[in-house]
Amino acid sequence: MQSINIQFDLIRQSATVAMADKILALKAGGHNIVGLQVGDPDFGTHPAIMDAALKAMQDGLTHYGPSRGYPDLRTAIANKLTRDEGLSYDPATEILVTHGGIHAYYTAMQSILNPGDDVLIPDPSWATHSNMAIMLRGNVIRVPAPADNGFIPQFDSWLKAWTPQTKVIVLNYPSNPTGAYPSHDYLQHVQDFAKEHNLWIVSDEVYGSLYYEQRPTSAAAIDGAKERTLIVNSLSKSYAMTGWRVGFLAAPAHVIEAALKAGQNSITCVAPFIQKAAAFALTDPAIQEVTANMRATYAKRRELVLRLSHELESEKVKVIPPQGAFYFFLDLRALKMSSIEMCERILEDAGVGLVPGSAFGEQGEGFIRMTIAASDEEVEAGFRKIVEWAERQ
Ligand SMILES: Cc1ncc(COP(=O)(O)O)c(C=O)c1O
Repeated sequence: MQSINIQFDLIRQSATVAMADKILALKAGGHNIVGLQVGDPDFGTHPAIMDAALKAMQDGLTHYGPSRGYPDLRTAIANKLTRDEGLSYDPATEILVTHGGIHAYYTAMQSILNPGDDVLIPDPSWATHSNMAIMLRGNVIRVPAPADNGFIPQFDSWLKAWTPQTKVIVLNYPSNPTGAYPSHDYLQHVQDFAKEHNLWIVSDEVYGSLYYEQRPTSAAAIDGAKERTLIVNSLSKSYAMTGWRVGFLAAPAHVIEAALKAGQNSITCVAPFIQKAAAFALTDPAIQEVTANMRATYAKRRELVLRLSHELESEKVKVIPPQGAFYFFLDLRALKMSSIEMCERILEDAGVGLVPGSAFGEQGEGFIRMTIAASDEEVEAGFRKIVEWAERQ
């Protein structure tokens, strides 16, 4: 038998997908499951965004489109970066429209990484951050971001992880799975470190507009940082548009030129009617209000879980209030059970779908990720069931 790409031996099957398959099977068997495993907003895409897409299709935009992205969309993205982050990007040269945030991350890493380069990635972190670097033949070094340090790496841990082969640091704030994000001063330190060692920073900011405390700072918004920072973002989470597959990379012009080649040779372009809908979503004032309302709803659900946790007073389920994103990373280390076993048993015994913390790295062992991108009723019922189950152990 012919061999396959050995890089895939280094990548584990996504625990999220495995869990989703189990949940589907149970549901098909007639079981009542509270699904708190997905990272997908429970809101529908606003109908006006759909209208914009339909109109673009009716106007004939059903063929190939510009691979860099339409100028009006790139301008809308640059304006968003100014409006939300105080950043200034040239839409002509410094923005690339991508097939969602994951493709922005792919084009970013493909543009800067050479085989054998070391990539520093906090642990825990969304699995694709590591998996993509491995697929591109990078060498991933995990930097512990432990719960007792608010899920942010101690500054010394970056220094310890660095090697002369280190090329890039991957940041993701607010974080999936923890919701954590660091202070402006911390980011300044990381950027100083990157400057000293001539590193790139790839900053995945797909949850950038979902925060519950002081607004997080973009990694590119630190003085002098823009020239070494690549911003990955998308409309998926912020505009409830996960299925539309549209995002963007914002980076120095010479990086965008390389990323454009990666885009042209992987997807050609983002569907033109989707680009038009995205430009509408980013610019229409009423849509910005809808987005703010979604954030307010997540904030209420976050309060709901914090209130329940206070009321239930469980020693076994410790709740760390997330600063952003739409997940709780629940600490069940008191049970001394693996995250995978916990999730399997909670699914079978209590009927709640979750994601094992170990899917995000070693530091996630003993934790489970619970989404609040589900109805208030599901979040409340799911959380109560998790606590009741844990108390029975
Ligand atoms: C941290 C993080 N980055 C990127 C993505 C991918 O976003 P998109 O759906 O826009 O590709 C996800 C999706 O879950 C995510 O959690």
